[in-house]
Amino acid sequence: MTLPATLTPIEDPLWYKDAVIYQIHIKSFFDGNNDGVGDFAGLLQKLDYIVDLGVTAIWMLPFYPSPRRDDGYDISDYRGVHPDYGTLADLREFVVAAHARGLRIITELVINHTSDQHSWFQRARRAPAGSPERDFYVWSDTDTKYAGTRIIFCDTEKSNWTWDDEAKAYYWHRFYAHQPDLNFDNPAVMEEVLSAMRFWLDLGIDGLRLDAVPYLIERDGTSNENLPETHDIIRRIRAEIDAYAPGRMLLAEANMWPEDAQVYFGQGDECHMSFHFPLMPRMYMAIAREDRFPITDIMRQTPAIPENCQWAVFLRNHDELTLEMVTSSERDYLWETYAADKRARINLGIRRRLSPLMQHDRRRIELMNGLLLSMPGTPVIYYGDEIGMGDNIYLGDRDGVRTPMQWSIDRNGGFSRADPAGLVMPPIMDPLYGYQAVNVEAQAAGQHSLLNWVRRMLEVRRRHRAFGRGTQRFLYPGNRKVLAYLREYGADNGHGETLLCVYNLSRSAQAVELDLHDFNRAVPVDVIGG
Ligand code: GLC
Repeated sequence: MTLPATLTPIEDPLWYKDAVIYQIHIKSFFDGNNDGVGDFAGLLQKLDYIVDLGVTAIWMLPFYPSPRRDDGYDISDYRGVHPDYGTLADLREFVVAAHARGLRIITELVINHTSDQHSWFQRARRAPAGSPERDFYVWSDTDTKYAGTRIIFCDTEKSNWTWDDEAKAYYWHRFYAHQPDLNFDNPAVMEEVLSAMRFWLDLGIDGLRLDAVPYLIERDGTSNENLPETHDIIRRIRAEIDAYAPGRMLLAEANMWPEDAQVYFGQGDECHMSFHFPLMPRMYMAIAREDRFPITDIMRQTPAIPENCQWAVFLRNHDELTLEMVTSSERDYLWETYAADKRARINLGIRRRLSPLMQHDRRRIELMNGLLLSMPGTPVIYYGDEIGMGDNIYLGDRDGVRTPMQWSIDRNGGFSRADPAGLVMPPIMDPLYGYQAVNVEAQAAGQHSLLNWVRRMLEVRRRHRAFGRGTQRFLYPGNRKVLAYLREYGADNGHGETLLCVYNLSRSAQAVELDLHDFNRAVPVDVIGG
């Protein structure tokens, strides 16, 4: 099939393997029209900043029309832009400008659920039981069906069912009660989802994050997670993307153990990428315990994945630092270590940013970023973490890690000229992390700032394909406080490179002996200093 003219050609179909993804929230990035809310016009003005940072792709959190009761993951229209953020034309202009600068754009395909304000739900609750309209969602006469299903937002929800007075039935929701789950047993739902997907592909979107994808299908007597039928749906989506817009990418949000998460790659016929959720807390665990074991152990359990697939590696994101993928005693340890203040906890996780988690210790921030940039997979950097932004655990839900980007010491941290009282979210203003102390302008000027360190590291990463594509081989020196591994790529074609990565996970100097007898005549070169 021929592609619509709006599609940009993608030269390397495996582009996501060498990518570095920068995750942003339109709302909190930069306010172009000074109404207090970040927007596409603002984002466009800050495109140079993102290019200069050295990332290759931008992942934008949901910007669609939405009541925003789950910060936009409650979508009321799949084909629009929330008026606070601009128009479809603004978005189109931004995508074109980003492509012109060599950046790829990743957006969200939130298909497990909609907002209860979506016209499909409004129609469904009024339609007669059993009608195709009603069947866009999952209904029941009782709230006891699928009793074996866990509750994800356990701090706020008591059940996965909510009574709807209009429909006179219960509807199913894995997240907030205002987010009814779509019914993928209804072929009409699948068609609508594929059509929405094509809409964004036509607009030039290069990648789609499949939000909450393990929960698409429900079956009696199961946990309703990772069901084979859910994988059928994903294969259908993948087949469509391959036929309609080859070279575009699907990224799974499947917060699962490695053996379950890897199924989201299928035989290379499901998602191109999937987040490595279990690795993330283990990086925090390793430096807290000053022991490499949590990392080497989880990587040992991580199966090989198909050639055309890639893990996405991250330290932080817009959600809580989820501790679902650790044992309960490990969770207690991580909570005690990183969230002694109970306000910092939410659901099964921690709502803090990287820098406060590292207690503002520049060397530990660098250590964590070093791991992020050198573990197998594509790194995802959460906006603001490149300057060491702080958080506000007094804000509700996960808003504390979604505060305005700190650009300068100007009013509202340079984010907006609006009246401070009218801002979408208060900026951080405490003495340690406030915009007076932590901002882009100051760090851009300082040669040794965290921002410039991150830029240099991304430059180093860009020079070595082995980071994105290479294998990983652990060395096991006697001293467990030292984590060492080799990233190797292309040895078979004679132009190979081997990178040796060594990390001291402890707070003091360590002696270590590495067994490098395989590289007898090789001369090591420091990739950072030359
Ligand atoms: C995903 C998102 C999260 C959202 C949830 C429900 O987990 O990352 O922010 O609340 O889905 O849509």
